[in-house]
Amino acid sequence: MCGIIGYIGNKQARDVVLKGLKRMEYRGYDSAGIALLNGGLHVTKCKGKVKALESLIDSKDEGFVGIGHTRWATHGEPNDVNSHPHTSNSGKIALVHNGIIENFNSLKQKLESEGYSFYSDTDTEVAVKLFESVLDKNPELSLEKAVQLALGQINGAYGFAIVHADFPDRIIVSRKGSPLLIGVGDGEMLIASDASAVAEYTDKVVYLDEGELAVIQKDSYQVLDSNDVELTKEVHELAVSLEEIEKGGFPHFMLKEIFEQPKTISDSLRGRLNPDLGTITLGGLSNVMDKLVNTKRIIIAACGTSWHSALFGEYLFEWLAKISVEVEYASEFRYRDPLINEGDVVFVISQSGETADTLAALRKAKEKGASVYGIVNVVGSSIARETDAGVYLHAGPEIGVASTKAFTGQVTVLTLIAVSLAIHKGVIEKAESDRIINALARIPSQVQSILDRSEQIKNIADLFTYAPNFLYLGRSFSFPVALEGALKLKEISYIHAEGYPAAEMKHGPIALIDDMMPVVVIAATKHTNDKMVSNIEEVKARKGRIISITSEKNQEVKELSEFNFTIPDTEDVLSPLLSVIPLQLLSYYVAVNRGANVDQPRNLAKSVTVE
Ligand code: AGP
Ligand code: GLU
Repeated sequence: MCGIIGYIGNKQARDVVLKGLKRMEYRGYDSAGIALLNGGLHVTKCKGKVKALESLIDSKDEGFVGIGHTRWATHGEPNDVNSHPHTSNSGKIALVHNGIIENFNSLKQKLESEGYSFYSDTDTEVAVKLFESVLDKNPELSLEKAVQLALGQINGAYGFAIVHADFPDRIIVSRKGSPLLIGVGDGEMLIASDASAVAEYTDKVVYLDEGELAVIQKDSYQVLDSNDVELTKEVHELAVSLEEIEKGGFPHFMLKEIFEQPKTISDSLRGRLNPDLGTITLGGLSNVMDKLVNTKRIIIAACGTSWHSALFGEYLFEWLAKISVEVEYASEFRYRDPLINEGDVVFVISQSGETADTLAALRKAKEKGASVYGIVNVVGSSIARETDAGVYLHAGPEIGVASTKAFTGQVTVLTLIAVSLAIHKGVIEKAESDRIINALARIPSQVQSILDRSEQIKNIADLFTYAPNFLYLGRSFSFPVALEGALKLKEISYIHAEGYPAAEMKHGPIALIDDMMPVVVIAATKHTNDKMVSNIEEVKARKGRIISITSEKNQEVKELSEFNFTIPDTEDVLSPLLSVIPLQLLSYYVAVNRGANVDQPRNLAKSVTVE
């Protein structure tokens, strides 16, 4: 959650920080702020977007050292005072924070009793007062030593960037539970919570690990562990190109990302799928394939859209690879006492690789002795680094808060894993695996053919823009798609929507259906078609408005529907890769029609790095 950026070098820090904040704004946009060092400390901050901050800054705001923040509020409403950076009572220290300080109340009371004054409702403000108090009591300490000493008193999660007017040649950063990286430049250094903010300046990055603190200077950086021991860190080559993080002519990142899917799915398949030989190679899992083949049970933990992919994974792994699977909300898994049996394998799925609950589930599973594998998009993210093995999506940076290409990337990777496992286990006929592999190779061009008809979806969206509710129904592999379609609509258009197993509808939600209720029916799997037809009839009998998504060959469903969008014919197990595309477009066009902020929907942030 939230974006942190810092710069030290020969450029005007203001320009680098503002640009970086704009790139990271998708992570949080309740407020924005900047602190510059130039003889003293100059802080500018305000509620709202980076644009609002920019209008408060002028060319006199100079300085070669600066830190900035975009906030996703956890403690204290989004307003000017609660915006970061927060400053010490002396006005000399400023810091930005990502995370939650859980013991902020007791720290605040203690610091207040020592005479420090507080102005905001945030948890963050205690940190800056705490650092100040340690320095006040130990004036001989350097800034980094004081921070190191104080961090021991802070419970919770943090990524901090700190500047001090008396130490104008450095930025101190530290992380526990929130991502931070150092962008290593030539005569300049950057720090950021997200690689997209530094990609313009350098392709060399150092990822900070849990509990590490770094002293960043113009020409050097020093990384210390929590025992103050200096570490030699690996410098990684950054794979993100600037082009990938810009809108490329699309009005919104979300639309760009929807339209990128033929390419991102191809990228997920590249080098892995061989239709000529009917084989699948997954380098990231090759060392653990034997373990997977022999496992009796797989648990998949994730949140949000990634949880919907996980649910699809359950259906798929059981269907094709004959392995029993349980799907868990990461946030639930971590706080109960889940039973992990010997030989169980846990998969975690995460676009960002930084979701706090998913990371905690990963750690819990490891603690209980499970092997944990990741399905992650962001290369070098915490989850990618902490899992024992895994498969990257290769979908490129996803900036739109509503996840689209990551979902199809996850479904693609899960399909590759399931088919590969089925082959390794010998539980699939060669003819069947060949059919699926060949159909998978055709998916990118089929997705393109759907996108080429996006206008048809726009026409349907125009008719239902002001509907107060939507119901999404699906069976089998289309059920996770129904959940995902409903989530997309809720997130960006703020319309109440529910995804339901089509048959389960008559156990309750059918009471909601009347002639005002659009019902999106995903009738994309052949093996459930007859049952789906009956469910459509049930909705029609109550005057519900049927919008169906079905194969171009499915005449029956087309005729029953008031509105219909066809998708190319494919294998049932692959149908989510096609049927989800019109649902992404539907939510997009409805949200645009309603004037909603598609890329930065209210109350949300791209990656949820707090519990
Ligand atoms: C999807 O549109 C959401 N914004 C959200 O549900 C997201 O999928 C969830 O927070 C998980 O994120 P992750 O994949 O980065 O772990
Ligand atoms: N907990 C802090 C706040 O509410 C930081 C939130 C964030 O990560 O943006 O201000």
